[in-house]
Amino acid sequence: MVTRTSIRLLYSILFILHARAFIHPIEIRGKHFVDSFTEQPFFIKGLDYQPGGSSRVDGKQDPLSDPQKCARDIMLFQQLGINTIRVYSLNPDLNHDVCMTMLAAAGIYLFLDVNSPLQNQHLNRYEPWSTYSEPYLQHVFKLIEQFSHYNNTLGFFAGNEVVNDGRSAQTSPPYLKALVGDMKQYIARHSPRPIPVGYSAVDDLKFRVSLARYLECYDANNKFNDVDFYGVNSYQWCGQQTFQTSGYDKLVDAYREYSKPVFFSEFGCNEVLPRQFQEVEALYSKEMYTVFSGGLVYEFNQEANNYGLVDSDAEGNIKLLPDFDTLKKVYGKVHMPTAEDLQRGLEKDRAAAMAVSSKSRCVQQYDNLEITIAVPNLANSMIRNGVQVEPGSYVDLSEDKLRTTYKIFDVSGKEILKGSRVEVVEVFDGSNLAKMRKLRRARYRNGAATSFPTSAIVLTTIGIIELLFQFSVI
Ligand SMILES: *[C@@H]1O[C@H](CO)[C@@H](O)[C@H](O)[C@H]1NC(C)=O
Repeated sequence: MVTRTSIRLLYSILFILHARAFIHPIEIRGKHFVDSFTEQPFFIKGLDYQPGGSSRVDGKQDPLSDPQKCARDIMLFQQLGINTIRVYSLNPDLNHDVCMTMLAAAGIYLFLDVNSPLQNQHLNRYEPWSTYSEPYLQHVFKLIEQFSHYNNTLGFFAGNEVVNDGRSAQTSPPYLKALVGDMKQYIARHSPRPIPVGYSAVDDLKFRVSLARYLECYDANNKFNDVDFYGVNSYQWCGQQTFQTSGYDKLVDAYREYSKPVFFSEFGCNEVLPRQFQEVEALYSKEMYTVFSGGLVYEFNQEANNYGLVDSDAEGNIKLLPDFDTLKKVYGKVHMPTAEDLQRGLEKDRAAAMAVSSKSRCVQQYDNLEITIAVPNLANSMIRNGVQVEPGSYVDLSEDKLRTTYKIFDVSGKEILKGSRVEVVEVFDGSNLAKMRKLRRARYRNGAATSFPTSAIVLTTIGIIELLFQFSVI
């Protein structure tokens, strides 16, 4: 009897473990993102998310601090079928555990910008020397420290469109490069795994290539200050276009020989309404996937600039806008490139395939950029000692956390998703147990596995106990 009770106890403990979110970290291999566990390429299919605009960050709230609102919006992310969001501004002194766990459970990754419009939380593009300060770096490192503990943190953006005109191109490039170096050094020393750091660029022909090249290059004195990936904010495909008429052909050519992953950190023109999101098909097609790793639609919430997919009222209830339905259809039809697709593509696209081995050493000059300004070294002691912040961790999600009290209305005003909850897709339940076993077998056959993850032990134990139950051994 004692054995029976203790086995049941063990089973319930394991059940609690396996009801937690499990999500595989994404890594960079060459020019692409890869799921570190399944070894499959990872293509970003997502959107930009900053409800209330960047001004909604303050001491009390930010976009990932309110579980009720996260549940409401994550249900809609799942309707759209996305795998990634980008958030522009967060406050590291708030707790983000529930929202991050819910995103992880929904199979959704996060790109996080480390800046906000608040004082000491961003670089001034024209006078970066006045804002590149210890309090600023502390803000940056606190976000990194907190978010590096979540497996679904996919990457950090050091900046968004900091260089956006002739004047900022004469002042900020060296500061951006220094900041990337600071962030990567902090991660190398303090994070449980290497999390990629990149930059999100305005797509301006004056520095489309030069800024990308400058941020990509490495020099002998600093082996940390090259970006790990490059984000392009592209608004050039408007209405009915083709790969050629949109100019995407030239855009792809510009990045073909880039040695790091490139993707759209924002996309979706609104000059021709309603939006058709026709560029999505091009983005995941063989014309692009050897060079671009997908992208993020700008943006989830309706703001004054009129890019929103949903609108919210004063009470926090949501109404879907027509573009939501269009994007849902378009994203639903996307065939995500597989490992085989990518391999075949790269066999044809030799330039992209070779790009990885052509990592570029920094040169003296980059078109239209001033790169000789010396940046003071302010980060050393913080990098050595770390910064104090509550580290992020996944929490158990009870049923009620996955639901929302807010209402959601479709385009015609009818209430939808009543009584629904965030669908948990990333758990070791019976349904993906078989899938995981198969993936593991495939991986071992390929001889790619090097370590046996704890999770797999838990998985196997649960499997055995479940079998024992089935055959009434216990
Ligand atoms: C995070 O990823 C690691 C490495 O794949 C894995 O061992 C661990 O179980 C994951 N943790 C969670 C909570 O998903």
